[in-house]
Amino acid sequence: MNARVRDTLLVAGSANLDFVVRASHVPAPGETVLGRDFATFPGGKGANQAVACARAGDVRTRMLLALGNDSFAASLEDSLEGACVELQVVRSALPTGTAFICLSDDAENAITVAPGANAALRGDELSSLHEVSHLLLQLETPLEAVTAFALAARAAGVQVVLNAAPARALPTELLRSVDVLIVNEGELAALTGHNGTVNECLAQLDVPCVVVTLGARGCCARQGGEFFLQPGFKVQAVDTTAAGDTFCGALAAALCRQLPMADALRHASAASALTCTRLGAQSSIPAWEEVQALLQDPAAVHSPQAVAALAAYCGFG
Ligand code: RIB
Repeated sequence: MNARVRDTLLVAGSANLDFVVRASHVPAPGETVLGRDFATFPGGKGANQAVACARAGDVRTRMLLALGNDSFAASLEDSLEGACVELQVVRSALPTGTAFICLSDDAENAITVAPGANAALRGDELSSLHEVSHLLLQLETPLEAVTAFALAARAAGVQVVLNAAPARALPTELLRSVDVLIVNEGELAALTGHNGTVNECLAQLDVPCVVVTLGARGCCARQGGEFFLQPGFKVQAVDTTAAGDTFCGALAAALCRQLPMADALRHASAASALTCTRLGAQSSIPAWEEVQALLQDPAAVHSPQAVAALAAYCGFG
């Protein structure tokens, strides 16, 4: 493989227009909550991850996505192109995907997605993988398409990075094609059917590299027989929407730049923390310079105690 030629990260996945209402708390089943301000933001796990990757610096980013023929599509294309993501758009007769988000005052959210055109993405729509070193996938598009993309990438020698979100059961052939799996704790438990520690759950997965995001605590990873721990960066969170997507995009970009895993996790955690300080999905994803500034801030250095606390939480050692 010519390393110079394979310099592109391809994201294949979803794009949604997010309809966001702020409220004191997320409603319980059957409850009506009187919210406050309302706004729309470009979102969708795939598109958010593509923007995070493009903003992570120095990685050419392409995205395959399906959109309707409507004004929502135009605003999603504007956001992606504004972040310098090169687009391959499949135009569908279905409406552009939408997501309905209730954002609580403690920065948590509840999200319902109406997939619309995202459901129209098919496995044979992946264009040439020439120049592509990494393919980044999520689960907001049909599982058959995600599986076909992963198999095609594996056959072409492209590294497959899967963010298994939202949680769902995965076909064995998909999991076998994955080089790097990224999950949160809920997704890890759903995938393994195991309610033990993170370490116990990790032992159930036969994937070369598994990264587990742990919210404000940070993240951990197992790569081959090696384990990594990265405590979270402390920030004043206002909206955690797209924090996980930013982590995935920034991590995939760092792997594309061939950073060692420990550095890749540090970059992805810093980018993800900054995303929580602003409203919206793509609008909140930080630029490369902001991430560098946080990484160089002496106050952001993690103590050995913080690493030990994270290790204990994960059940390591
Ligand atoms: O991960 C956050 C995203 O989930 C939102 O932008 C929403 O569109 C849903 O896809």
